[in-house]
Amino acid sequence: MNIRVARSILPILCAIVLSFVLFYAYTIRSGGGDVLHLPSIPFIKPKPTDRRPPTTHAPPSFKPTPTFTPAAVTDPFPLLATSTPPPIPEYNIPRPNLHAEYGLDRAPPLYIGFTRQWPMLLQAVVSYITAGWPADGIFVVENTGVYNSNRDGKLSLQNPFYLNHTTLKRLGVNVLQTPVLLTFAQLQNFFLHEAYEHDHPYYFYSHQDAVVFSFEDGPDNTHRPSDGEWDFYDENDKEDMMLPASARQPGYRTIYENCLRELNQTLERGERWGIRWFQYDHLSLVNREAMEAVGGYDSMIPYYISDCDFNGKLLMDGWTAKHRRVGIINDVSSVMTNLGALYRIPHITPNFSDPNPMTPEREAKIKADKEKAEKEAEEKKKEEAAKNATEAGKPAPARRDTPMPEDPVEYFRALNQLGIDMGLHKYRDKDNLRNTWQVTQRGGVGEPFYYDAMGFGRAFEILTEAGKGVYREKWGHRDCDLISGTALRMEDQWHVEKDWEKPKEEDKPKEENKPKEGKKDGR
Ligand SMILES: *[C@@H]1O[C@H](CO)[C@@H](O)[C@H](O)[C@H]1NC(C)=O
Ligand SMILES: *[C@@H]1O[C@H](CO)[C@@H](O)[C@H](O)[C@H]1NC(C)=O
Ligand SMILES: *[C@@H]1O[C@H](CO)[C@@H](O)[C@H](O)[C@H]1NC(C)=O
Ligand SMILES: *[C@@H]1O[C@H](CO)[C@@H](O)[C@H](O)[C@H]1NC(C)=O
Repeated sequence: MNIRVARSILPILCAIVLSFVLFYAYTIRSGGGDVLHLPSIPFIKPKPTDRRPPTTHAPPSFKPTPTFTPAAVTDPFPLLATSTPPPIPEYNIPRPNLHAEYGLDRAPPLYIGFTRQWPMLLQAVVSYITAGWPADGIFVVENTGVYNSNRDGKLSLQNPFYLNHTTLKRLGVNVLQTPVLLTFAQLQNFFLHEAYEHDHPYYFYSHQDAVVFSFEDGPDNTHRPSDGEWDFYDENDKEDMMLPASARQPGYRTIYENCLRELNQTLERGERWGIRWFQYDHLSLVNREAMEAVGGYDSMIPYYISDCDFNGKLLMDGWTAKHRRVGIINDVSSVMTNLGALYRIPHITPNFSDPNPMTPEREAKIKADKEKAEKEAEEKKKEEAAKNATEAGKPAPARRDTPMPEDPVEYFRALNQLGIDMGLHKYRDKDNLRNTWQVTQRGGVGEPFYYDAMGFGRAFEILTEAGKGVYREKWGHRDCDLISGTALRMEDQWHVEKDWEKPKEEDKPKEENKPKEGKKDGR
């Protein structure tokens, strides 16, 4: 070896040897090298195989194992795994800076919260995109309590809390993560927090169990189970809302454009407005100022009836809340077998399956009711169509098994009927159990931050009941009708006696509907 080469290699060798020595000394001293992120496994004892402690106590007695297991979850959008999303119907493509056409300097964000059941969330998001909502205006709020596990791809599809960040990014949608698992009320306040952080005076929010469409086929007079009465300002306004132009006609507006327009009109009217519901709160527009004025949602009422509290406060404080119509919204509990249908792909026949059916006996029992309901809806539709000349020319939408038409509006009819069927399916057992979709996905045992799915559902019910207890104490009233059923004012909260109890001294106070499973002490 050339001496000159050897002389230049020597210092390098010395440096390498020295760094090994220093590294070794360092790891010894720091006892395993937290700082260097060396694997900590060798320093932790392995998990014992049988973890029940040796004891003289009797073993716990177990609840019966559920006899009924729902089918495994399937990927509702296999196409997205290998390619970018297909194009949406041309007439639904949002014009660039559409918000500017309505005098808005920025587009209000649309927040969609997610806790469980990925296929439904994906369905909701895809329905918004294909109906014309700009993907970059959608913010999925991941509220799963699994920290970065989804972002890092650590959960499996069968885990109820699974959410695929890659898929949502591929769709162009934003994903926000709540730092820890939040309740419904806290999630609503998190939206407010985001609106403050990013300086949005107004924002929209929706739910993962919505499937939305624009009025692609013009007027739609089908009454969906969660539709209420719409509020109109006058006859022109009514016509505008109830007789929208179809995608084939001039003046067609997507659900997104109608939302921007609704905000514009609301601002133009100069009302002290708090909220606009587009089918109760399945899609809502919120005025941040009103949220602020009434102190946001009450975190002490974690789930259902929290909305009753919030709406009550809003109206007591003089902010308006109105039911307005911007598009077709279906409240569903099932998932389309292939979300490619929303892109009008002709070889895909729109269809759905229920990932969370009830027990076979229960399904059989309510089948008759369902058929009756569908028949009634059909009758009602026919009746309405007969009454209204604009409906007369339309062929009855049909579920079909032949290839779907190339024409997106033709295709839309089948899709719209599917949405109606899915909505009816959710409400097939009247209002009972309509949220069973939230509990039946049960996989993911052993994955990071795993939580027993049945337990999660049960705890949710208990907290809901406890929240109702808080509400009853807070307002001295049991029902949701704070405005129509009482003379309460904002200042009365927590200062009023229960209005359902006789004020007689000798009557021992009875708390009705007390959460059966709630903690009995603490008072
Ligand atoms: C998320 O979706 C992508 C694309 O479809 C897929 O390749 C990936 O495996 C999925 N990630 C997880 C954790 O399932
Ligand atoms: C509503 O939109 C129109 C244009 O379409 C605009 O001139 C007007 O300023 C907007 N109103 C508000 C309150 O932004
Ligand atoms: C739709 O799906 C159901 C099962 O969920 C199946 O029985 C039915 O045949 C399907 N219909 C079509 C047209 O594919
Ligand atoms: C039927 O159409 C007429 C206009 O042709 C309209 O005034 C009316 O409100 C419509 N009725 C319903 C139920 O939509």
